[in-house]
Amino acid sequence: MSVLQLKDIKKSFFGVQVLHGISLELKEGEILGLVGENGAGKSTMMNIIGGVLQPDSGSMFLRGEEYHPESPQVATDNGISFIHQELSLFSNLTVAENIYIDGYPKGKLGMIDKKKMASTTEEYLKRYHIENVSPSTSIGQLPMGTRQMIEIIKALVKNSHILIFDEPTTSLSNREKELLFKTLNELREAGYSIIYISHILEDVLMLSNRIYVLRDGSIVADGPTEEWDRDRLIHEMVGRDIKQVYPTLEKTIENDVAFEVKDLCCADSVKDVNFSIRKGEILGMFGLMGAGRSEVARAIFGVDPIQGGSVVIKGKEYHKTTPDLCINNGMAFITENRREEGLMMPKPVNDNMAMVMDRNLVRKLGMIDRAKEAELNDKMIHAVSVKVTNPKTQTANSLSGGNQQKVVIGKWIVTKPEIFIVDEPTRGVDVGAKYEIYKLLLRLASEGAAILFISSEMEELMGISDRIVVMKDGHLVKSIDKPDFSSELIGSYAI
Ligand SMILES: Nc1ncnc2c1ncn2[C@@H]1O[C@H](COP(=O)(O)OP(=O)(O)OP(=O)(O)O)[C@@H](O)[C@H]1O
Ligand SMILES: [Mg+2]
Repeated sequence: MSVLQLKDIKKSFFGVQVLHGISLELKEGEILGLVGENGAGKSTMMNIIGGVLQPDSGSMFLRGEEYHPESPQVATDNGISFIHQELSLFSNLTVAENIYIDGYPKGKLGMIDKKKMASTTEEYLKRYHIENVSPSTSIGQLPMGTRQMIEIIKALVKNSHILIFDEPTTSLSNREKELLFKTLNELREAGYSIIYISHILEDVLMLSNRIYVLRDGSIVADGPTEEWDRDRLIHEMVGRDIKQVYPTLEKTIENDVAFEVKDLCCADSVKDVNFSIRKGEILGMFGLMGAGRSEVARAIFGVDPIQGGSVVIKGKEYHKTTPDLCINNGMAFITENRREEGLMMPKPVNDNMAMVMDRNLVRKLGMIDRAKEAELNDKMIHAVSVKVTNPKTQTANSLSGGNQQKVVIGKWIVTKPEIFIVDEPTRGVDVGAKYEIYKLLLRLASEGAAILFISSEMEELMGISDRIVVMKDGHLVKSIDKPDFSSELIGSYAI
């Protein structure tokens, strides 16, 4: 039975049409996969279903009845809940308080029924196998995966029957991801209807019953999941075949060490990390969530303090670094936390890129060379194919999630860093753009840059690294050379 139906939904932003008449059907007790390139319109479509945005035209039906939510509250009242990538829980409140934030249960005399809050929360925690958490635990202490489960429980407590997940796995460890998938399957069996958006096509193929492909604001194909495979999904998403997943490029690794980390200790938990990267080399860094990879990167770049040991940048040893010192030494760093650290959200795309460029590149007699700046902006937008209508006026927060990531990467790449640290650069980025990012990293290396490439995706690490180091529990446990790469071997050191 059809639970939700969209008919010919159209939406424009400032005269640019983003959705060209979307029609779609969600059935009871199914997981519907939704895939498409960055900027295809997936989140916009979901925001319309969730009452965050209003469509320009078209109609929606909920169990056959006309449905047009003027606000997210109306969507919630109609049993539709959104589980966003950036979770909307309050860290300073408890688990139970978060679950009931939109409406506390009332007891006699209109008082908040704390007992009921606690007991229902307890029951749900048990039902969804969430261990070591009580209703009074504060959210701030919990790992991402658990927070996401709390978000799901919050939706269920509100009696939602349609759950929308927009890239839900980006900050989850493998174990957390498994638990999420198990829960999604249980929910499906219990009759819930789920829309699942992701750039990890394997996950969509594994989880969903049917798949819709969105390209440039139109549904270009749909069908039961049995009819799909990865290659065909990609073909429909980008409109052509992509045969090669990893680019190849001739490059030489020089003998000069560009960068070295000696007995580095940081973040209280990372101890005695040693590695060096030569010019032209891409060093992959693998590890499970919490192994200390991002902590190492942040200490190197002076975002967090170095607690022991040193970093050697182009032959010079430092026991303390700052981002300024690193940038002035030709280093660049892309954090995993793009929203908080990588972008000025309310500013136009161009200003975001200029932030890095102005200090290095476009000064002439101490003045900013606007022509040069514009030229570099164009170059960057093309280099990582950012989907933006007008970079001078469109703000970073109006870009799609993946396109924000491309801006963060692009703005550093045009500065031609000699030492480049990238932390999960392809997270939330579509297949085509992933390929472009790999190519850019390889090209930088072929021009002599030393690159530290941190990723949780072992496949991509093996695809473009020259060597992989594995971190576990704050220690660097192994360095593996390219001829020995295998997922079994790398995994065995990480676990
Ligand atoms: N408030 C806005 N103002 C202007 N343009 C917008 C706004 N919101 C979205 N857009 C544009 O609409 C298009 C679709 O964006 P949307 O976020 O729906 O893409 P997406 O498919 O979710 O991409 P991603 O995979 O990167 O998350 C993009 O080109 C985006 O720049
Ligand atoms: Mg999106």
